Amino acid sequence: MAYSAKIGPSILSSDLSCLGNECVRMMECGADYLHLDVMDGHFVPNITFGHPMVECLRKSVGQDPFFDMHMMVSRPEQWVKPMAAAGANQYTFHLEATTNPGNLIKEIRESGMKVGLAIKPGTTVEELAPWANQIDMALVMTVEPGFGGQKFMEDMMPKVSWLRSQFPSLDIEVDGGVGPDSIHKCAEAGANMIVSGSAVIGSDDPRSVIALLRTVVAEAIQKRSLDR
Ligand code: DX5
Ligand code: ZN
Repeated sequence: MAYSAKIGPSILSSDLSCLGNECVRMMECGADYLHLDVMDGHFVPNITFGHPMVECLRKSVGQDPFFDMHMMVSRPEQWVKPMAAAGANQYTFHLEATTNPGNLIKEIRESGMKVGLAIKPGTTVEELAPWANQIDMALVMTVEPGFGGQKFMEDMMPKVSWLRSQFPSLDIEVDGGVGPDSIHKCAEAGANMIVSGSAVIGSDDPRSVIALLRTVVAEAIQKRSLDR
């Protein structure tokens, strides 16, 4: 099986004045990677941070943590090189934000980053499918992008199941409202990269929440491999 269970806290819901410390804390609590939400106030009705912040974070946390940049921005082409230079490892752009995904995928690769492709709840998985063999990860949003702390949309799970059936070794990420209450649905559908914001950051015991999420996903992966 090419893919494994990975948990990536979204630091959007952390104390943003202590972002470096929060990232280190999450890695110490067992996070496999960090999911960094970039919002431009145009593609989504909210603003977070850009590549200067990522550059500072990289200096602060060192080379090890894997930065998955969730680019909720219009014109994602614009930030590929600055994000690569800032120390991003994966550039996850929204299919809805570009007219030329093929070219963008190529540019991201040439910049030395992995490629993630995200779809909003209103976008069908069939629209993503033509690109699936060229990307490292598909992100199925389980809330409307823009804010942390929203309710998990269970009706997105058929998209995940379909992707898993068509692309057995693809990394599939879910993002939005994912925590101990919704992880079983995500794991059964076939997601293996799990973004969790408020459920992890807001917990008194993030280490246990991360471990629980990973165990549920790992068990589903093992079951799927036995069933094959
Ligand atoms: C929403 C972001 C998510 C969000 C997840 O637009 O893409 O990454 O921070 O936070 P929770 O897990 O609280 O929904
Ligand atoms: Zn996100």
